[in-house]
Amino acid sequence: MAIISSCTASTLKDAATSLRSGNLVAFPTETVYGLGVDATNKDAVDHLYQVKGRPSDHPLIVHISSMANLDKWAREVPEYAIELARTFWPGPMTLILRKTNLAKDFITGNQDSVGIRVPSHPLASALLIEFEDQGGLGVAAPSANRFGKVSPTMADDVFEELSGYLSPADLILDGGPCEVGVESTIINCKQDIPEILRPGAITATIISDLIGLQVKQISAGSNKLTIKASGLMQSHYAPKAKVFLSTTPNLGDGFIALSDIPTPPGAIRLASPKNNKEYAQLLYQALRLADTKQLPNVMVIPPTGDDVAIAICDRLEKCAYKS
Ligand code: TXA
Ligand code: MG
Repeated sequence: MAIISSCTASTLKDAATSLRSGNLVAFPTETVYGLGVDATNKDAVDHLYQVKGRPSDHPLIVHISSMANLDKWAREVPEYAIELARTFWPGPMTLILRKTNLAKDFITGNQDSVGIRVPSHPLASALLIEFEDQGGLGVAAPSANRFGKVSPTMADDVFEELSGYLSPADLILDGGPCEVGVESTIINCKQDIPEILRPGAITATIISDLIGLQVKQISAGSNKLTIKASGLMQSHYAPKAKVFLSTTPNLGDGFIALSDIPTPPGAIRLASPKNNKEYAQLLYQALRLADTKQLPNVMVIPPTGDDVAIAICDRLEKCAYKS
């Protein structure tokens, strides 16, 4: 498998052809790197599940180049979802919608819904446009990490994580570091009002301000949870190091906090983001750095606020060590 570091029109065309032939192509999005596969090719999707080590009943998000292709995959799209799509696509938002027959069980984990996203990263857009020009209908792409691990925000992270599992014909497209740094906001749009299944850069406040509706939020501990979403599991997004939240670090422990919080004596600073947006950009890099440095423990001081801090805290709670 090759990493393509300077993507041109011709390499993107080849990457799209490779996807159409059933290979995997890891590509940058504005949130995290995705591991793409032709969403209509069952054998290729089976290969993807193997590479990720992910249970096959966990559904995948289908990526399309624009809202114009939404009707191929989704039906009975509520008015508020159309408004969300018009406003935030392309961008870090996934809508869960009633599926059409095109969305097979091997994509949806046997659910009656499908997750759809239009990413805004220029390389992702260009790849999807080329893929659709070649007759493709959608690219299913989970985050390009092994199941339960930290999502990659750089091409080298994808290589480090998946090179032992990818086939020689698979590709990794390098588009630099991801701008958002945490995964897309997932919104369940099958009911009268939207429900956030996974918080992201598009927050509940932003959504309800736009559509004038109350927004429901689901919590990981909910007993009523029937939807299979790996981001909803209690433990996820985890590095090898044990992550502790707001405790006192011991000598040699990693430390992550906003830049105005000083490093406690003896701790090893892994990131000093200036604000919450930068915190999201740097968080997964910092958790990976802890593993590179073979630190047994990382102490994290979560950010506060009702912006992307909500998504950061969600991921931190899921990766935090549970004794
Ligand atoms: O930012 C992102 O969304 C990235 C980039 C690559 O687009 N993708 C991503 O995919 O995070 P993944 O597979 O790592 O996480 C997608 C989440 C999973 O928890 C999955 O279970 C959930 O979306 N999901 C997908 N389809 C669903 C559906 N029909 N109903 C409920 N949850 C769904
Ligand atoms: Mg993931």
